[in-house]
Amino acid sequence: MKVDGRSYRTIWTKAHAGDVSVIDQTKLPHRFEIATLHTLEDAARAIETMVVRGAPLIGATAAYGMALGMRERADEQGLRAAYDRLIRTRPTAVNLRWALDEVRKILGDVAPSARIDAAYAAAAEIADEDVAINAAIGRHGLDLFRRIAATKRGKRLNILTHCNAGWLATVDWGTATAPIYMAHEAGIPVHVWVDETRPRNQGAFLTAWELGHHGVPHTVIADNTGGHLMQHGMVDAVIVGTDRTTAAGDVANKIGTYLKALAAKDNGVPFYVALPSPTIDFRISDGLKEIPIEERHGHEVSHIAGRTADDRIETVQLVPDGSPVANYAFDVTPARLVTALVTERGVAPATAEGIRSLFPDGR
Ligand code: MRU
Repeated sequence: MKVDGRSYRTIWTKAHAGDVSVIDQTKLPHRFEIATLHTLEDAARAIETMVVRGAPLIGATAAYGMALGMRERADEQGLRAAYDRLIRTRPTAVNLRWALDEVRKILGDVAPSARIDAAYAAAAEIADEDVAINAAIGRHGLDLFRRIAATKRGKRLNILTHCNAGWLATVDWGTATAPIYMAHEAGIPVHVWVDETRPRNQGAFLTAWELGHHGVPHTVIADNTGGHLMQHGMVDAVIVGTDRTTAAGDVANKIGTYLKALAAKDNGVPFYVALPSPTIDFRISDGLKEIPIEERHGHEVSHIAGRTADDRIETVQLVPDGSPVANYAFDVTPARLVTALVTERGVAPATAEGIRSLFPDGR
């Protein structure tokens, strides 16, 4: 997507088997900076510290992390060390494991001397595939939005989204935002309610930034506002991303998603989940019991960073000294609250049968 008129992906290499460039998401929305990953450890830390984040981009970064690891050591021990370091970086997004397994399988079949090239090729393919998947999700989601827009007789289409499942969370397009960008391009008068998404503020910091750069009308709201808007007919549909979806359609996504799904159900608002197939965990079917929920440092809850009037970035404390805080990063929305899953192969009910109908052999 475009930043100040220039097209960017979120991850790229400048040279054959070169260092890896990423947009440093910890600096947005106030600074646009590129970070360079030189080593396996750089890639692992970029994922852990959320320089890169979002399930699909975590997967792509892990794949490039394997490539950087092969530059350091390409024998069996190096392969195992790279995999083991990267798999530990974040627990919830299953794209991480998916991408690492894909790359490890490819590298296992080639001689160590060929592994650097093979790893870079595999990572590039994962990145390109992510872009194609998201574009396809966009087209299928656009059909849904067109149908809802047709009932509104030219009035604006109000979509609510939570967190950032935008192009910054992927390699390009985004998952939940792909249909929004396509609706905007198609001339549908779309407007997005952007949940701020405490504690990391991915909505206020990232979704608002990217929608703004693309000219999509949007309004940032406090996380607790969605229910009120739905009660007053001000939300036509909710669309969110996912970090892991079970084979039966339970959806793990950023903390707070479940509450939006409950409010949507109570108010008859369709609740869609944009779901790339690498985010489906075909090994599990009970999201509440089987999806590991990341608990992050309490500092993210007790403090907040922002820009001062004289353009400095400052972090301030929000809670009283000594108050304990808890920081659960994700929650699970049961399949029964999800109106439909929007995948690259089409739209399906959030059921085991629905998922199987589109992905009969897993992936
Ligand atoms: O903790 P994050 O920022 O990596 O969380 C992931 C997300 O951005 C969201 O949960 C998103 O909706 C799913 S990723 C497309």
